Amino acid sequence: MAGDLDRETMEKAYARWAPIYDAVCGPVFEQGRRAAAQAARQVGGKILEVGVGTGLSFSDYDATTEITGIDLSGPMVAKARERMTSGAFPHVRDVQVMDAHDLTFPDDTFDCVVAQFVITLVEKPERVLDECTRVAKPGAEIILVNHLYSERGVAAAIERWFSKHAHTFGLRPEFPFGRLQAWADNHGGAQVIERRRVGPLGVYSLVRFRKTEAGAAAERQRAAG
Ligand SMILES: C[S@@+](CC[C@H](N)C(=O)[O-])C[C@H]1O[C@@H](n2cnc3c(N)ncnc32)[C@H](O)[C@@H]1O
Repeated sequence: MAGDLDRETMEKAYARWAPIYDAVCGPVFEQGRRAAAQAARQVGGKILEVGVGTGLSFSDYDATTEITGIDLSGPMVAKARERMTSGAFPHVRDVQVMDAHDLTFPDDTFDCVVAQFVITLVEKPERVLDECTRVAKPGAEIILVNHLYSERGVAAAIERWFSKHAHTFGLRPEFPFGRLQAWADNHGGAQVIERRRVGPLGVYSLVRFRKTEAGAAAERQRAAG
């Protein structure tokens, strides 16, 4: 699957989306985005939003949080910065252009890492999850929300057809929950602590992971060489 949604495809897709994203995608993703931000707010503290987009979630946080956003797309980040200049979101500290595959933050920086409607789009989802876990503090949560592929039934057949046509729009719908669980099992330093349906007709899945002490210890060992 890697290579089908490479960086160039993604940058081109979101340069096209940026001017119309809020109007077209804002309402479609609203319930999922809100549910993830609410779960992150319960953790509080320093929160990293990966694939922050135009910053539609800024209003879902409050002064108990300190938000840093990153996104691959310059035009999407420009929109998020425009939103910051309104002065209505003092809890948003910084928004940067950055690739989620190579986060430039030190290990153990954030209390919570959130990615809303991002993990199924990136070229190497497992690598992005590794990075999200690395920058999370021990005990911190990594929270994802997405449409995850149905593994059985009529929905699975429809989604399989749709997936053939979706990549040009920067979408990858053929992504099952099992792939996230397999990553957690292999990584060994993060556990799935919740999986629940959210959004209209429960169409999205919210998945919460917790970085374990074992995960932090393995990173320390790697850093020590
Ligand atoms: C569907 S939008 C979601 C935006 C926002 N999270 C929301 O819920 O409105 C996906 C976002 O992920 C970003 N993205 C895609 N690949 C990325 C990567 N490798 N690193 C960082 N951001 C990425 C895109 O540029 C886009 O802004």
